[in-house]
Amino acid sequence: MPIVEREPPKGRRESYVLPKVPVPPLKQTLDMYLTSIKHLVKEEQYQKTKSIVEKFGEPGGTGELLQEKLLEKSINTHNWVYDYWLDDMYLNQRLALPVNSNPAMVFPKQDFRDHKDSLKFAAHLITGVLEYKKHIDTRALPVDFSRGQLAGTPLCMKQYYRLFNTYRLPGLKRDTLVIHETGSTEQEHIIVACKNQFFVMDLVVKEKTLKEMDILSQLEKMVKMAENTEERQPPFGLLTSDGRTEWAQTRDVLIKDSVNRESLAVIEKCLCVVCLDDPSGMEVGDTSRALLMLHGGGHEKMGANRWYDKPMQFVVGEDGVCGTVCEHSPFEGIVLVACTEYLMKFMTGSPSKIGRATSVSELPAPRRLLWKTTPHIQGLLKASAERLQRLVRDLDMDVHKFEVYGKEFIKKQKMSPDAYIQVSLQLAFYRCNGRLVSTYESASIRRFHEGRVDNIRSATPETLAFVKAMTDEKTSLSDSEKIKRLWDAINAQTNSTIAAITGMGIDNHLLGLREISQEIHMEMPEIFTDETYVASNQFILSTSQVPTTVEMFCCYGPVVPNGYGCCYNPQADHLLFSVTSFHGSTETSSAVFIKALDEGLVEMRDLCLYQGSPTLFLERYPPGGLHQGPPTLFLERYRPVGFHSNPVPGERPS
Ligand code: COA
Repeated sequence: MPIVEREPPKGRRESYVLPKVPVPPLKQTLDMYLTSIKHLVKEEQYQKTKSIVEKFGEPGGTGELLQEKLLEKSINTHNWVYDYWLDDMYLNQRLALPVNSNPAMVFPKQDFRDHKDSLKFAAHLITGVLEYKKHIDTRALPVDFSRGQLAGTPLCMKQYYRLFNTYRLPGLKRDTLVIHETGSTEQEHIIVACKNQFFVMDLVVKEKTLKEMDILSQLEKMVKMAENTEERQPPFGLLTSDGRTEWAQTRDVLIKDSVNRESLAVIEKCLCVVCLDDPSGMEVGDTSRALLMLHGGGHEKMGANRWYDKPMQFVVGEDGVCGTVCEHSPFEGIVLVACTEYLMKFMTGSPSKIGRATSVSELPAPRRLLWKTTPHIQGLLKASAERLQRLVRDLDMDVHKFEVYGKEFIKKQKMSPDAYIQVSLQLAFYRCNGRLVSTYESASIRRFHEGRVDNIRSATPETLAFVKAMTDEKTSLSDSEKIKRLWDAINAQTNSTIAAITGMGIDNHLLGLREISQEIHMEMPEIFTDETYVASNQFILSTSQVPTTVEMFCCYGPVVPNGYGCCYNPQADHLLFSVTSFHGSTETSSAVFIKALDEGLVEMRDLCLYQGSPTLFLERYPPGGLHQGPPTLFLERYRPVGFHSNPVPGERPS
């Protein structure tokens, strides 16, 4: 039986010895909140917010009452913030999953000789998934330990147990994260998508688990069946690419028919979806591969050959474009990396067993999922296709490898590479837009029981001082002053990181105070309706470090219409950035942002070199030579003519 929302505790040692997420002191959060926004809003607005916050935090006031309730909740639950966070971050969100929510992991480009080669790859990948699933079911995965800042602490493993047994069910107002019991017999199948058709692959036949050659043989039959145009079913996968309310409404229509109901039930219980993609016809580069993972290229390409609600969806393209598209609510990118790296290593390290193992004799023909359609449903499909197409046209993506240096150079400067990269992102944004904005950087709180993430607010006052030194004040300040400001910015960022990963972040706490006020039926406190709070939760810059140890990279879309999504992967000798924005915004351009980032990273390196040896530095860079150029905003200087001719002005699915 599926368990909705929360699995009963299984008493796993590695989970239950972990401390609970703490509730930070109220005054500390309120002070940090004011510091985090002071330099981002006008003085008048800041003064208004300051008095609202002070009133909220006064002795015996609303803040103290809510804090008390939150402390009570933290005693009575495993993790006081988990449900608030899950609802706020995912389940209450109404935007379509592709681009807006589902991240993707892009595998190295594969060189398939022919179609059969790609199916062999898919069969091997599925075998790897089953191996990995065995480790999950037997709880044999080694416990992760933190690395980097405050290294060596055991981390909560719960997210791994949500990789294959979860499903995001659309709801009219709120989605539901359905969780099946690990190892449930209802879950002994995967779904294979091919030419927008969905097939069921039973993994256990006559009580025997399919071997790799059986899997290949089933895939081959599915491909043949998909080619039969007479039996072709409508592209129902498109419906999952729609806004969540739209999809929930459509699903209510579909389930009136028993054929649709049954097909949906089978998909909703599968282990994972494997999408066998036709060649997209696009030139195969990092950016186009990332686009194909995020949205499939729309309904005319592979956008309908997907089922976006399913957390683990593997894509194997005949043209070698492969990766994973994920529904994000059950787990974070770091867990996804661990799983996909296992699979990549399995694929390269353990040879394919095709042709060597004995197969299950007489495999049944694969089952194609059938759909009952009506003119009304056809209309809904058409509407979903159009909305996906708008999203496809709107996404502005640029994947960039910065090759001048990597994290080893930064470590040599005795700086945290993550803090350094965050400061460089702020510099790039300031260069483009002449201001800093509310920024999100995910900070893992897996040190705590059922910990997910909190936010590191990277647009610190110290970073603003630094980016001004590198732009507006570049000719008036000495390089040593610039270096001092760089260090201040790095230190502030590192301290915010440590606060967030040790459960002292402010975003989760403020969210908890807000939500508990609603639970006790209080009128929404002014601190949460204040325009500063609302604006500070609009993350124009949404960033995340997703490092990998094998060749692949993660990407995701912006979280607001005028924002950037920036996922980065620091490697020893280079830094990989996947930057996204929307063509519909005149305030953004991924290519221009990358250009600003590149330039800033080089300038930051030069400052560090100056710090290492001022004499050598001055020989290489005579005074005044380093930061030349008019103080025009990057976006104006580099925007290609007609770049932002938005095909669908201002329109985004809601
Ligand atoms: N001098 C020299 N080296 C330093 C240093 C310094 N001052 N500060 C850090 N380093 C080293 C670290 O020891 C580490 O070394 P390693 O590569 O040998 O492990 C390396 O630099 C990286 O450390 P740092 O750059 O500080 O980052 P981090 O690894 O601590 O990561 C976060 C910081 C915030 C990204 C991390 O804590 C986190 O939360 N990650 C999860 C993010 C996430 O959830 N992403 C997915 C969202 S879907």
